[in-house]
Amino acid sequence: MAEGIKLAVVGATGAVGQEMLKVLEQRKFPASEVICLASERSAGKKVAFQGQELTIEAIRPEAFERADMALFAIESDVSREVAPMAQANHCIVIDNSNAFRMDKDVPLIVPEVNPQAAKNHQGIIANPNCSTIIMVVALNPIHQAVGIEHITVSTYQAVSGAGKPGLEELQEHVGNYVKGIPNTPKVFKHPIEFNLIPHIDVFVEEGYTKEEMKMVNETRKIFGVPEMRIAATTVRVPVFRSHSESINIETKKAITPEEAREVLSKAPGVIVQDDPTKDLYPMPLLTSDTDEVYVGRIRRDISVPQGLAMWVVGDQIRKGAATNCIQIAELLLQNKWY
Ligand SMILES: NC(=O)c1ccc[n+]([C@@H]2O[C@H](COP(=O)([O-])OP(=O)(O)OC[C@H]3O[C@@H](n4cnc5c(N)ncnc54)[C@H](OP(=O)(O)O)[C@@H]3O)[C@@H](O)[C@H]2O)c1
Repeated sequence: MAEGIKLAVVGATGAVGQEMLKVLEQRKFPASEVICLASERSAGKKVAFQGQELTIEAIRPEAFERADMALFAIESDVSREVAPMAQANHCIVIDNSNAFRMDKDVPLIVPEVNPQAAKNHQGIIANPNCSTIIMVVALNPIHQAVGIEHITVSTYQAVSGAGKPGLEELQEHVGNYVKGIPNTPKVFKHPIEFNLIPHIDVFVEEGYTKEEMKMVNETRKIFGVPEMRIAATTVRVPVFRSHSESINIETKKAITPEEAREVLSKAPGVIVQDDPTKDLYPMPLLTSDTDEVYVGRIRRDISVPQGLAMWVVGDQIRKGAATNCIQIAELLLQNKWY
C-alpha cells in the first residue's frame, strides 16, 4: 500500500463497505493501512483488497487507536454507539448513516456542491442520504445559475438501497416466483418482485416517510436554504442497483431546457444523456457501477410559468454512498482539514 493515512472501513462486509474497498482501490486512495471492521459475526472472515486478503475484525475501541480516519458503513444505531470510540482516539469519522446528518455541528457534504462546509468539522462529517446526493449533484448547477425555489421529486429506488439483504431478497424471490414457489417478504413490507412499494423507512409526519423528509431537510441544509419548498415521494422498485428520480423544479430566473443542458454539461460529476430523437435517456442498467449522476428528459414544466422537468439516475452505492464518502476523505486530505 502507498504511504499515507491509516484508514478504518467500518461495516466492511456490507453493500456499502464492500464498495468502499473497491472505490479506495480504484481511486488509489493514499492509505498506508486499511483496517476492516464489522460485527462479531464476521470477525476472522477475509475480504479482498489490492490483491491481498484483509481480515475482518470485530468493532472494538482499540481498533481506532490505529486509525486516523474511519469510513462508517453501518446502521445509524450502530454509528451512534461506535462514533464515540473513534472520537476518543482522535479518529475522524465520515458516516454514511442518518445518525448525525442534521446535527448543527456536523457538516453534511457533497464535494461537488458544498466542499467548504467540511472545513470546520469537529470530528464527524456526514454523508447525505443517497437519493439526496443524486438530486443535489444534478440540481446544484441550475441552482447556482438561476436559483431554485421549489422542488417536487419522486424516486424509484433500487433494492440494494436496503443493503445486501435487500439485494438478496429480490434475487431469491424472482427465482422462486418463476418456479411457482411462494415468497414471504422479510426485508420489504410487501412483495418486491414485479411490484412497487411507495414506502421507504417509517411514516413520520403528515403522511410522509422518514426517507422523504430526509430528502427535504438534507437538501435544505446542503444548499443552505432552510425555507426551500420541497416535497418528495420515495418508492422502492424491483431494480438491483441505481436510484432514478423524476424531478420538477421552479426557478427564480427563467432558464430554457437548452440552457439547462449547457449548464449541466459543464458541471462536475454530471453526465447529460438527453436525446429523444435517439431514445437516449439515463436508465439504472446503464448507470450502475459508475460514479456520475446522469440527467436526461430535460424539458419545460408546462404546468408552471418558470419550471423544468428532468429525469436523474445515479448509482446509489457508488455516488450515493461509497464514492461520496471517499471524495470527502480526499477533500480533507487535499486541504489538510484533519
Ligand atoms: N445500500 C445503500 O445503497 C446505501 C446508500 C447510502 C447510505 N447507506 C447507509 O450505509 C449504511 C450501511 O448500509 P449497507 O447497505 O451497506 O448495509 P448492509 O449491507 O446491511 O451492511 C451492514 C454492515 O454493518 C455491519 N453491522 C451490522 N450490525 C452490526 C453491529 N451490531 N455491530 C457492528 N457492525 C454491524 C454488518 O456487519 P456483518 O456483516 O458482520 O453483519 C455490515 O458490515 C447504512 O447506514 C445505510 O443507511 C446505504
